[in-house]
Amino acid sequence: MNALYSLFAVFVLILVGMGGTAAGMTHLFGVVIPYLAIAIFFVGFVAKVIGWAKSPVPFRIPTTGGQMKSHDWIRHSKLDNPQTTGQTIARMALEILCFRSLFRNLAVQRFGSTEDGVDMKVRYASSKWLWGFALLFHYSFLIVFVRHFRLFTDPVPGFLSGLEFFDGLLQLGVPTLYLTDVFLVLGATFLLLRRALLPQVRYISLVADYFPLFLILSVACSGIMMRYFGKTDIMAVKELTMGLFSFAPAAHIEGIGAIFYIHLFLVCVLIAYFPFSKLMHLGGVFLSPTRNLPNDNRAKHHRNPWNDPNVKAHSYADYEDEFREKMVEAGLPVEKGLDEAAQTEAQ
Ligand code: HEM
Repeated sequence: MNALYSLFAVFVLILVGMGGTAAGMTHLFGVVIPYLAIAIFFVGFVAKVIGWAKSPVPFRIPTTGGQMKSHDWIRHSKLDNPQTTGQTIARMALEILCFRSLFRNLAVQRFGSTEDGVDMKVRYASSKWLWGFALLFHYSFLIVFVRHFRLFTDPVPGFLSGLEFFDGLLQLGVPTLYLTDVFLVLGATFLLLRRALLPQVRYISLVADYFPLFLILSVACSGIMMRYFGKTDIMAVKELTMGLFSFAPAAHIEGIGAIFYIHLFLVCVLIAYFPFSKLMHLGGVFLSPTRNLPNDNRAKHHRNPWNDPNVKAHSYADYEDEFREKMVEAGLPVEKGLDEAAQTEAQ
């Protein structure tokens, strides 16, 4: 049902875009809504980031998956349990650029089952599909996004032409097929089917999980229709986009078809929805204290700066001072022996 609600919502959005253009509201859809969407995006994004940045993180709370730095003869897992800022940056870079934690994702497999399931065994096996398609999807999206800058720049920077050249390297069809268009749709479809078909993922999937995928697919498909089937007047589009960028939007531009306004409207909804959705992992991944902190808990003492001075804390050292004799008597390990403690007290 959640998938159907999301699909329905995207259909309504497409109808709104179509209806608006048919009614001649091109100024609303070509100028007002894009500005509004960008304003919502910036305010929402900044507010979210400020909110996260203001959350107190007095202690080191990274999630770790390997040996912490310890004795010299125990091998330290530098990437999975970073001790220094440099190691943390390396861990973050691998996570952000290569989705390393997803690469290490394991799938549970059941095998050897009998009728009543008594002999069923469970094992964990490497599962690279999700990682592969997630990478394909995100990098294709990024390249499609960056390629669009040719619509906003005049003259078009050289590196964009280079990107277009490599993206269309197969030289298939007229206009040339961009590989990233195919990969983007392929990646998003895989992520959608995984949610809809795998029972354990479907069980935890909400409208907020399906809606962005359907929305991104509709943006990609409307763009593809425009480029390969509908044929839009790119010069007219460029006049509009350059006008928007220079804050001097053109009043009315001839020759831009309805499909462009639908594409733009869907993009605007995506942009405005972004800060309030799971898509904010784009910003969140950098600010996650379970990732961006070195695990130096044993090496450094981290004192909570928000500790109330009026509240008397009882540290382990205090505890040991209080019960040292009894602990030694009971044969419990102590950090300071009786002699050492007496010496320190005498000083
Ligand atoms: C999240 C942002 C966007 C995504 C994911 C997206 C996606 C796509 C895709 C997949 C295509 C097919 C051809 C290609 O890859 O170049 C396309 C084409 C197109 N898009 Fe977008 N788009 C986005 C934003 C925009 C914006 C903001 C505009 C204009 C203001 C725009 C205008 C166009 C135009 C005019 C085409 C046709 C290009 C051609 O005929 O070569 N798109 N878009």
